[in-house]
Amino acid sequence: MANIRLESVSKRYPDKVAVDNVSFEVPNGSFFALLGPSGCGKTTILRLIAGLERPDAGEIALGARPVAGRGGFVGPEHRGLGMVFQSYALWPHMTVAANIDFGLAGRGLSRADRRRRVHEALDLVGLSAEGARRPHQLSGGQRQRVALARSLAVRPEIILLDEPLANLDAHLRQTMLAEFGRIHAQAKTTFVFVTHDQNEAMALADQVAVMDRGRLQQLAPPEELFARPASPMVARFVGQGRLLAGDVLASGEGTTRFRLDNAEFQVEGRAPVGPGWLCLRARDVQLAKGGGSGERLNGRVVGSRFEGGDHRLTVQVGETGAVGSVDVLSPQRGTIGEAVCLALRGGWVLAREAA
Ligand SMILES: Nc1ncnc2c1ncn2[C@@H]1O[C@H](COP(=O)(O)OP(=O)(O)O)[C@@H](O)[C@H]1O
Ligand SMILES: [Mg+2]
Repeated sequence: MANIRLESVSKRYPDKVAVDNVSFEVPNGSFFALLGPSGCGKTTILRLIAGLERPDAGEIALGARPVAGRGGFVGPEHRGLGMVFQSYALWPHMTVAANIDFGLAGRGLSRADRRRRVHEALDLVGLSAEGARRPHQLSGGQRQRVALARSLAVRPEIILLDEPLANLDAHLRQTMLAEFGRIHAQAKTTFVFVTHDQNEAMALADQVAVMDRGRLQQLAPPEELFARPASPMVARFVGQGRLLAGDVLASGEGTTRFRLDNAEFQVEGRAPVGPGWLCLRARDVQLAKGGGSGERLNGRVVGSRFEGGDHRLTVQVGETGAVGSVDVLSPQRGTIGEAVCLALRGGWVLAREAA
């Protein structure tokens, strides 16, 4: 069953359409990511789901219950959702346990019940030993886990997380990502996780909704977003995809005949005959010996940087900059200006609006 359903939801501000006709469903218990650049409308969607904003058009339902739209409006306090923000918003003068307990007040729970829930939530986020500490005595990652525990203790069906890892350093972010995955699996709660970082979204989510300028670009599992981006924006945003301009010569059955800088290739894709983009990741190309033959691309090294144990070379394809450039991994450092030959191992073709 869908736990959250948005149907043609729009939200306008006086000078801006923040959310533009967005529809999607979040299945019960899933880890759902909302991904997109800053300002694309992610927080606004979370606030609409939470009931902190009202849509100008469209319907929102939680489970079988309409909460916004023609069916009337249910306020945030009656939606039964948990929220976790980038800023942890913990009370500095209270202990960790008291911070979690605070969220349980006014719910008609007995003292013993509350104590048990605080204990369970701390256990779930791995902070059983830290209950008596105050927030300033914790690391950033621990504080964020307290914020998550505070939400979990209420046992909501849905937890909305708005860039919860953005304040953490890169190493801690990795650790916390793994923790979030584990906690989600254990708590069996629906997570809606907002981030501008594709690595975070791709690492954990069952489904990723990619947003751009208020619109939903694509909704798919991470593997599909990566392998078959639906638009140039998704191709660029997810997995550092590079786009090369060429032409689709023939098309059918999920594959295309593609011409790029005087070479022709058979590449996967669903684009009509005409101008096209070839989306290439570093893993789609390989440095090859020798030139000339059909399924090879010729180019020049325009950049080289050491990354993850390899040298990532940026290669401009063709003589001018008109076609575009692509990254390729190499065991050796590249020399700027060096002529290289690339073999294609993969790729994905998209339609290109004629200039
Ligand atoms: N209360 C508001 N009043 C006016 N404009 C807003 C308001 N909230 C958000 N916006 C605008 O709506 C757009 C989407 O914002 P937001 O949902 O916060 O994006 P994101 O979370 O993806 O960075 C932005 O251009 C932002 O400036
Ligand atoms: Mg935001």
